[in-house]
Parts: sequence; structure tokens; C-alpha cells
Amino acid sequence: MTSPEERDLRVLQLYEQLLEIEQRLIPTGLHVFGRPSQAGERADMLKMIASFARPEAGTRGLPELVAEGLGLVCDQRPAGLSPASLSNATEVEIRNRERVDEIVSEAIRQFDSSGIDAAVSALEQNANVPADESRPVFTLLEKISKQLETNSEIDALMRALRGEYIEPGPGADIVQNPAILPTGRNTHAINPYAVPSALAFARAENVAQKLLERYLAEHNRYPRSMALVLWGLDNIKTQGEGVAQALWLLGVRPVSDALNRVTRIEPIPLEQLRRPRIDVVMTVSGIFRDLFSPTVQLLDKAVRLVAQLDEPDELNYVRAHVMEQVRDENCDPDEAMTRVFSNAPGNYGTNVNFMVMDSQWEREETLGDLFVTRKCFAYGRDSKGRTIEGVEARTAMDRALARVEATYQNIDTFEIGITDVDHYFEYLGGISKAVEKRARNRPAIYLSDTLSNDAKIRSLAETVRLETRAKTLNPKWYEGMLKHGFRGVAEIEGHVSNTFGWSATADAVDDWVYTEVAKTFVLDEAMLKRLRALNPHSAHALVGRLLEAQGRGYWDAQPEVLDQLREIISSLEDQLEGVA
Ligand code: BEZ
Ligand code: MG
Repeated sequence: MTSPEERDLRVLQLYEQLLEIEQRLIPTGLHVFGRPSQAGERADMLKMIASFARPEAGTRGLPELVAEGLGLVCDQRPAGLSPASLSNATEVEIRNRERVDEIVSEAIRQFDSSGIDAAVSALEQNANVPADESRPVFTLLEKISKQLETNSEIDALMRALRGEYIEPGPGADIVQNPAILPTGRNTHAINPYAVPSALAFARAENVAQKLLERYLAEHNRYPRSMALVLWGLDNIKTQGEGVAQALWLLGVRPVSDALNRVTRIEPIPLEQLRRPRIDVVMTVSGIFRDLFSPTVQLLDKAVRLVAQLDEPDELNYVRAHVMEQVRDENCDPDEAMTRVFSNAPGNYGTNVNFMVMDSQWEREETLGDLFVTRKCFAYGRDSKGRTIEGVEARTAMDRALARVEATYQNIDTFEIGITDVDHYFEYLGGISKAVEKRARNRPAIYLSDTLSNDAKIRSLAETVRLETRAKTLNPKWYEGMLKHGFRGVAEIEGHVSNTFGWSATADAVDDWVYTEVAKTFVLDEAMLKRLRALNPHSAHALVGRLLEAQGRGYWDAQPEVLDQLREIISSLEDQLEGVA
């Protein structure tokens, strides 16, 4: 029997989950080259941009200003409350957050329809926000809004094709760095010696801490070893947040040399760290390897430094593992300290995505083995100071992965999530499957979402559910896609196949996901008619993927649903043959 308090608490938790889905910013269509963003989309974007403090522009986040003006303290739930008082506190907090959100939305509407003065006075009246605090925010929004209204991508492309000069612009996520506007410029990357930036290192502390707290809460101890995926573009966008998270887990900080280049590492003393140093296996993408060569060296240096600190085993898992491997397996210390892996020089990707997409596999473990075959090349510098530049090190990788208890990747943009592209499951899914066989245990799989100031850690299964609700099954998302006709249907099918990728690599997809996908896109007659008129190839692939999910044991479908799907796929085959 659950008590009324527990019931109330559960209802409020559900309510929080609903809010999370409702408030999640999603792309509502594809970017059309040369076309400025539409009005509704622009308002959503501006609201999101205004929710962050922007120290570089001297502005604060609107939700923070509104909460302060109303005298509310949002998002600070005291620990250790009884369910009854917790549910009270949660209810108050939810109501406060909704109120803040409504006031911010109204101010953005005013800004959109009547300009800065109207928005400033709306906030003053509704939430006592001083004009001198809100005006700089709207001045910034006005500049961004103008840039969003125009688009010179086609003109820039034509100029580029004529060999003319194209102005440079930073590569980043629009919400994180609006300076990427206007688009249609020559995207420049980053100075790898500036990575991680001081801001990235500061932000990463909170994420690494929350990640470890989550594992601790679920397993009653810290993970002794974790496997991380690091991508190049992500670390460009965030100036190295992923890199900084790896350094925090190891318990070290980057130090700049006399030329202000981050080339050194120093340990954070254990008294300050107040937790063990986690062993970290890093697989970096081919793009990361190419763009961040000094950073690859920095990460390798960090592992070697930590392995050689004179500290107790229970507070330094890297040292404990290296010593144990050298002692018990008579292993060369250089091999025992290898933790940074990537593709062979000149190679990119894991190919796990291609194997899944083409259904070219029988046993799941093949997917993990393929990941290791592609990614088992070591990078760094050995103890004699010789550069290791993509030396095949399968045994070292197998051994390092055999200890891994949790795998992890950071997500830093709202534009691309774990079901939008096949790269998340090829990397995070691929490595998790490789760990499962080598450690003889499925690792805990986590993603962080550093889109907002308040970074969130979610398990893979939670993230799949959230993405499914917020995107794949959300009419706002799929109708946005369907406006693009042929390509839109391909995007929907892509989401379903990428979701399937999480079944294949991590069994992280609930049955209801496939059931609802079938109901929404295939068993709904009107919808199926639209899909097959717009793009029968993708409609066929989508139904085929659902049948594959059932066939491989990832979906316990009802027999009558299966019969319907089989009938539909054969009629799609007839249609395609007719088309061909
Ligand atoms: C990268 O930026 O490293 C990356 C981009 C796309 C797929 C995989 C990796
Ligand atoms: Mg299942």
C-alpha cells in the first residue's frame, strides 16, 4: 500500500516529467538553406537564448531576473525532507517555475509584437524586474532577432564559388553562442591549446560531480572505471567541456605554460577532491584526433601523471589498476597506462551504424567487437617521451574496457540528440556493447545534458524515453518534418532506425516505444497514406525496422499488430515495384 504522501509525490514527479517534455526545445523542421527562420521558431529560440546569463554581453538570464523580482527561489530543493513536506516543497517549486515561465513567455511575446520598451515594462509590471537589468537582455535579443530575420547563405555560397573572400565566424550552438550569427560565414574552429577554457573547466566540475553522484546513488560506491566518448565538434562548441569532464574525473587541472598554452596538468590534491580519482578510458573520434592533437597529448599526460601519484589504491583507481596489471600480468607499464584510443591514422567512424542500418549482423557482440577493431589505436607519448601516433593496441583496449563500470557522453546542443543521428549509438552504444562483453557486465550508461545552466544527468533509457516523447512521437516535431515532404519522411524513419540502434547496442528501448511508433505512423490509416504518398521508400524502411525490432526480440508486439505490419509491408513492396 502506498501512503497518500507517496502517491502525491509520485504524481508530482510525473508532473515534473511532463513539464520536462513540454519545455524541451526541439527543432520543428529542417533548416532550409538560404531561408531565414520562421516567426514562431524565432520566438522559441529567443526565449531559450534569454534564459542564459551572458557574461560576455553583461546580461543575466530572464528566468533568474523574474524569480528574483518576485522574491522566489526556484530549483533549490532542501535535502532530507519527509515525503509530505517534500511534496509540498515540490508543488510550490513547480508552481513558481510555471509562473516564472509564463511571465518570461509573455515578455518575449511583447518583445516580438511591440518591441523593447513594451517587453521591459511588462517585466517591470509583472515581476518587478528593474528596467536597467532587462533592457540589455532585450537589446541583445533585438540584434539576434534581426540576424535571424535575414539570411545570406546563398549569396555567400555564390561568392565562395567565385573564389571570393568569405568572412569568418565561430562554429557553435546558437543558444550557447549567438555570435555564430549571421550564418553563411566561413566557420572557424578553435585553438586547441586554449582547450579546455577556464569556463569549460568550471562548468565541467558540476557535471562530473553530478555524474558521480548519480552512479553513487544507484550503486552505493563510485565507479572505478568509466569509458568516455569525446567528439571534435562538441569540444569546439563548448571550448572543451568534454575534455574538462575527463580531467575532473581523473582529479587533475589544466595549467597554461609561459606562452599561455594549456600543455601541462597538475593533480588536484585528494583533500580538495574528497573522492577517489576515477580511471577513465577515452575514445576520441577521428575528427577530434585531427583537430585536437595537443589535447590528445594532454589527456594521455593526465592519465600517466595520475598513475604515478603516490596515493592509496582506494583513492586512486588509475594507479591501482596500472599497478595490478603490471604486477599480475607482467604487463609493460606503458601498455597498462594506455587510455586514449581512436581510429587508425586517416580513418574515421566505428562503422557500427552501417552494420546496424544494413541489418548485417547476427549477434549483438559483433557490434562491440567492430567498435574495438575500428577504435583500438593508441595515441599519446610513452615513458621515454616517444610519440605514439595511432599504434594498434587491441589488447590494451580490451583490458581497459574490461574494468569499465559506466559509459558516458556529453550532449551540448538542443539541435542534435541521441535519435537524430546514428553517431550517438555507433559511439556510446558501440562502446557500451564492447564493455558488456569484456567486463562480463552491462555498464551503467549515462548522458549529460548541458543545454541549460542546470546540467542534467540521465540514464540512456531515460534519454531514449525523453527523445521519443519530445520528438519522434510529438506531432509538433513530426508535422514540422512532414512539411519537408520526401525528406521529412526520411527523417522520421531515421529517428525510428536510430532508436532501434539503441536496442541493438544497449537494449535501452521500452516496448511501448515501438508500439506507439507503429500506432502513430503505420496503423493510423490517414498517416500511412500521407507517408506512402510522400516517400514510399522510407515508409517501407520504417515498417521493416519495426518488424526487425520484433524479430530480434526488442519488441514484444501483439500478434494482430504484427499481422497488420506484414500486410502493410507487402503492399508497400507492391507499390515500390509498381513505382520502379
Ligand atoms: C565529431 O565531431 O567528432 C563527430 C561528428 C560527427 C560524428 C562523429 C563524430
Ligand atoms: Mg526490451
